[in-house]
Parts: sequence; structure tokens; C-alpha cells
Amino acid sequence: MKYVPVDGKPERLQIGARVLDLTQWLEVDVHYARDVAEKRALMATVPGQVFAALPCGLKGSEEVLALVTAHLSDRLPALAESLPANDSNQHPLVRAALTVQEDLCVMSLVDGEWILSAASVCFPNRWDLRAKIGRSLSGIHEPVPDYAAKIGAATNSLFHKLTVERPIWRLNWTIMDSPALHQPVPVPLPDALRLTGGDLAENLWFRRERQTLRKLPQSGDILFTIRTYTDALAAVVRHDPDFRRNLASTIAEVDQAMVYYKGWANIKQQLLDWSRVG
Ligand code: HEM
Repeated sequence: MKYVPVDGKPERLQIGARVLDLTQWLEVDVHYARDVAEKRALMATVPGQVFAALPCGLKGSEEVLALVTAHLSDRLPALAESLPANDSNQHPLVRAALTVQEDLCVMSLVDGEWILSAASVCFPNRWDLRAKIGRSLSGIHEPVPDYAAKIGAATNSLFHKLTVERPIWRLNWTIMDSPALHQPVPVPLPDALRLTGGDLAENLWFRRERQTLRKLPQSGDILFTIRTYTDALAAVVRHDPDFRRNLASTIAEVDQAMVYYKGWANIKQQLLDWSRVG
């Protein structure tokens, strides 16, 4: 199982950027066909919810399509050959996104601010793309407690300094009450998640986002990819027996604003009780 960044240290807001090896840029796994089919169905039924683009994001999007296509033919030739012919009437970012499991977001520098200029996001973690398109990094992250005070300036600076030669990746994680990848409804504060009976470990999911950032050489835009993984807590424990104990010490000190933001108000105590017994 990939990416279990819970080591028992108290959770804190941080960028946590690591250098990305571009040969490992995009990840394909056994759920490829399922995820791409879900993306196609969402694009067919609710396109306005999962795709948005401004004219200034077009050049970067074309570059993304070329990079994704080249990456798949270099790294995964069998998969690249099996892909259906791509509909050239579609926006290039949609064409690229329908061939990978990642969500794709293009950021463009406009008047000194990095703004979201084009995005195909089928698997948002409780946010609405329509509310984010055209907004700056700080605008996008407005609902995140302490983002501005703790990591806002450093994130802006990271974007300004990002180079073509040194792409990066990072992880975000949370606990959710559903395994659905498509979660477009923003968290209704203060109490979002509910455990509706049954075994906690089978009814709560450990949801991670593996995010990559790479500067695009021609347009100068930045591509942000989000790959979402989710597993029931029980499955994570089977993979990593320390997870249960570590989770307690990692979430124990999370402050109330973040607990509300994550939607954990109703489940935090149950989670702690469960983790401490383990
Ligand atoms: C180094 C870059 C970035 C950092 C450090 C960062 C950090 C974060 C953090 C800590 C959260 C809260 C997640 C949670 O605790 O569950 C978050 C949420 C979010 N991030 Fe980022 N982020 C980065 C880049 C981006 C980019 C480029 C986008 C562009 C689409 C983006 C879109 C979002 C959205 C939409 C949310 C949810 C906000 C909401 O609840 O309305 N992030 N980010």
C-alpha cells in the first residue's frame, strides 16, 4: 500500500516538498480502467463540475497534453497503444486527464499571482472547482485554517522559484466517511463526517493525495497533479500494524479549527478511542 504518512508525530501544517523523479511522474495501478471510466462518465454528465478553463490556461494545457502523451508512450507503451483515439474537439487538458488517474490543474502567473487557469478535477476532496477557477493560491486556500499564517508565503515563494529541472511532490491526507473518489461538496462546518454504525475501521477511509508540481518549459505555467488513494482503516492496519497506534498520537493535538475543517468533529473521539486500544 502506498503512502501512509502517519508516523505518530503530531500533525502540523507544512509544505513537505520532496524532489520528484520525473520517471515516476504519473502513477498507474490496477484501478486505472475503473478510474478513467469514472472520469469519462463525470465529463459526460456533469462537465461543468469537473472541468473549468480560462483562455490564459490554453497554452499550458496544450503543453500538458504533449507531456502526458510522451510520458505514457515512453514509460507505459502498452497502455499508450491501447488508449482510444482522443477527441480533438475536446480541450487539451481534458484529453490529457482522460488518459491518466491524476487530476490535472494548470497554474498561470497573472499580475504577479499564480492563479488556477485550467483544471480537470474529477476527484476533489470536498471542494467545488467552480469556486476556485481563476483564483490565486491564497484565494484557493482561504478555507484552510492557518494556511495564510503558516505556509501561504512559503507556498507562493515555492511557486515563484520552481524550475523545469527540479519538479517536486508532496502528500496530503485525511480521514473520510466514504470511499468515493468524487467528493465535490464542500465540508458543511462544523460537523461533516458521521459514523453510521458498524465497525469503525471498515467504515472510515484513509484518503491520501500524492501531488506533483512541475514547471512547464514553453508556457512558463505550472502543472499541479493530484492522485487520490483511499483505503479503509482496517486495510491500512493490515498493511502497517503501527498505523493504529500512530494515528492516535498524530491526531490528538490537531486544533479545533482544523478538526472542523477536516470534518472530524463527530468522529475524532471515536477515532482516538479506536486508535488507543490498538
Ligand atoms: C506546494 C503547494 C501546495 C500546498 C503546500 C498546499 C497545501 C494545502 C493544504 C495543507 C490543504 C488542506 C488539506 C487538508 O488538510 O485536508 C490544501 C487544500 C486545498 N488545496 Fe492546496 N496546496 C498546494 C497547492 C495547491 C494548488 C496548486 C492547488 C490548485 C488547485 C491547490 C488546491 C487546494 C484546494 C482546492 C484545497 C481544498 C480547499 C478547500 O477546502 O476549499 N493546492 N492545500
